[in-house]
Amino acid sequence: MKPSKITILFFIMSSLTVGLAQKPVYLDSNQPIEKRVQDALSRMTLEEKVDMLHAQSKFSSKGVPRLGIPEVWTDDGPHGIREEVFWDKWIGAGWTNDSCTAFPALTSLAASFNPEMALLYGISIGEEARYRNKSVLLGPGVNIYRTPLNGRNFEYMGEDPYLSSRMVVPYIQGVQQNGVAACVKHFALNNQEDNRTSIDVQVSERALYEIYLPAFKAAVQEGKAWSIMGSYNLFRGQHCCTNDLLLNKILKQDWNFNGVVISDWGGTHNTEQAVLNGLDLEMGTSTDGLTTDGTAPYSEYYMANPYLKNLKSGKYDVKTLDDKVSRILRLIFRTTMSADRPFGKFVSPEHSEAARKIAEQGIVLLKNEKQTLPIPVGKYKKIAVIGENATKSLVIGGGSSSLKVAYEVKPLEGLIAKYGKDVISFSSGYASGQSEYVKETKSRLNKDSLLHAAVEVAKNADVVIYIGGLNKNYLQDSEGGDRKSMALPYGQDQLIQAIQTVNKNIVVVLLSGNAVEMPWLGQVPALVQGWYLGSEAGNALANILSGEVNPSGKLPFSFPKKLEDNAAISFGAISYPGLNGKEEYKEDILVGYRWFDTKKIAPQFAFGHGLSYTTFEYGKATTDKKSYATNDTVKLTLTLKNTGVLKGAETVQIYISALKPSVMRPIKELKAFSKTELDASASRQIEINLGVKDWAFYNEKTQSWEVEAGKYNILVGASSADIRQKVNVEITK
Ligand code: BGC
Repeated sequence: MKPSKITILFFIMSSLTVGLAQKPVYLDSNQPIEKRVQDALSRMTLEEKVDMLHAQSKFSSKGVPRLGIPEVWTDDGPHGIREEVFWDKWIGAGWTNDSCTAFPALTSLAASFNPEMALLYGISIGEEARYRNKSVLLGPGVNIYRTPLNGRNFEYMGEDPYLSSRMVVPYIQGVQQNGVAACVKHFALNNQEDNRTSIDVQVSERALYEIYLPAFKAAVQEGKAWSIMGSYNLFRGQHCCTNDLLLNKILKQDWNFNGVVISDWGGTHNTEQAVLNGLDLEMGTSTDGLTTDGTAPYSEYYMANPYLKNLKSGKYDVKTLDDKVSRILRLIFRTTMSADRPFGKFVSPEHSEAARKIAEQGIVLLKNEKQTLPIPVGKYKKIAVIGENATKSLVIGGGSSSLKVAYEVKPLEGLIAKYGKDVISFSSGYASGQSEYVKETKSRLNKDSLLHAAVEVAKNADVVIYIGGLNKNYLQDSEGGDRKSMALPYGQDQLIQAIQTVNKNIVVVLLSGNAVEMPWLGQVPALVQGWYLGSEAGNALANILSGEVNPSGKLPFSFPKKLEDNAAISFGAISYPGLNGKEEYKEDILVGYRWFDTKKIAPQFAFGHGLSYTTFEYGKATTDKKSYATNDTVKLTLTLKNTGVLKGAETVQIYISALKPSVMRPIKELKAFSKTELDASASRQIEINLGVKDWAFYNEKTQSWEVEAGKYNILVGASSADIRQKVNVEITK
């Protein structure tokens, strides 16, 4: 008998339904992520869930093989994609296809004062992470620059909460558009490396909210970061990787963070706190992973068997477990199991171009007298390049951000390529000895003969380009320990002084992530802050020094004249580096320029300072009204004119100053900035919107942000110490 049309239709319909029913929701990338999460969760056993919450190797954690849910692979961050390491060891596995592009250090990115550069950075490094098949990039870092001694300042974005907030958001967006999660670190108050795992930080609510949290909040709420890393230190007696207030209350409850809290490597110390206080993924708890009867194999992590056992006994509820697993599943669906994840690219010409551009925009011209700079090609026949940083690798070392790179153009190579090898003579002048994580061994080279050789080279040159600063050796700009003084190491002060007695035409270039003392500053006509610039360091530097690119960077932190001028240091050991395991942030909200301004201490170079080879004139600033309500937006306009003969870019900075606040407030606080490039003689009208709600202070009594009515000055400056315009406005309730 022939089947009727209805039977055929029924047959087709039911096979379609069966077909659909066979594809589980969690595997269907057209389904909303939350449905996929719930579906996957409902299919998992207790053991599979717990398995996801801790490492299975140095940098990875388990997926659910039975369900086809992949592992999570993390990697450092934040300046390039770290080489592959052995499964259970920190050392490189010797792959031949994992040499990355090194991007400039985050201090240098911050110095660009250009969120477009942060987006370019994020996109480029995200593409490299994606190509290497990473689910999570361990970066960026936004801990506030509190003292010039912190070994990891170079990995962060400076001293100002507003600047770091504006720069971190596009970085994250750029990374994540590649289907790779950014992991913002180190949450929170990880402002030093000395005693980093044991120091217990006490800080006022106000400083916490006004200074130390804003960049993290922006990363979560505006950047929509998919993961965050807890820090090693303690806050109010609890380790930050398992800190109830920071993780459960502030991050997850108040900020609605729905991503994964990842511990710093070895930052978890007990099961109960890990389970209850908001940690989702435990990494790096000391283990070689090889034995089950040894000290701590992966299955004995705090959130492995010890958790499972107590889930089974009923001590812990499944709801908390499910929340953690949901977050990790969500991250997997956003990254490795997302259907529209691009393929990424690695060490592409575009990445070199991006690295160079960001580096150029971050280099800061601190001083330039007698038109010492630029040095156009052909101006001099004999250029002496002196200083070890002209030839030392500055991408290797520094701890977890150390990189194996495809290439690194060192400053000397860049300068030779620019000026020609017949023009340049090089002498290292000093030597730093052993690098990376181990205590420095003394260089075997003789200090005096290095100095004499350099002085000879300097004597015979038309100009000296000195390239020194710090490096990534332990106790310089490096993880795991702080600098022991603010002075330049390896006898460089003496060396610079000796050079300038034989040659006054000297440009000092400092490559560092931190401020240094400069006893020779008065004798040196030109000074450049060059940071750690990554793979394209030499090219970027040569472009700036030769004038092919006009410098436009601004300092993302203040340079004190001497260490004791720094706020935290000035209060003694209790305030830094801590006493008997405790540390009080005594300077409170007066961090960086907020301190220098309020205490009337002149810094060596102020926050926001940076010169150009051209000059800019700030026209009269005006606002659209004179009086505003607290939810209004102030529209500020001014004309910026390039009054020189070269194209250049200027960052106009807007600070606000409350005239009669009822609580102590810093003299000024950065609330906006705008970087504008102008041809020679060109001018442009700049419009800046200022939301009055952002002028609030954190009221500890009411535990809320409050904009006070009253008179305010809007200050328009070329730096925090160089205010060019002032507009007075009134805020009404
Ligand atoms: C660092 C982190 C890093 C992790 C993994 C830790 O020591 O503090 O920033 O991401 O190691 O390498």
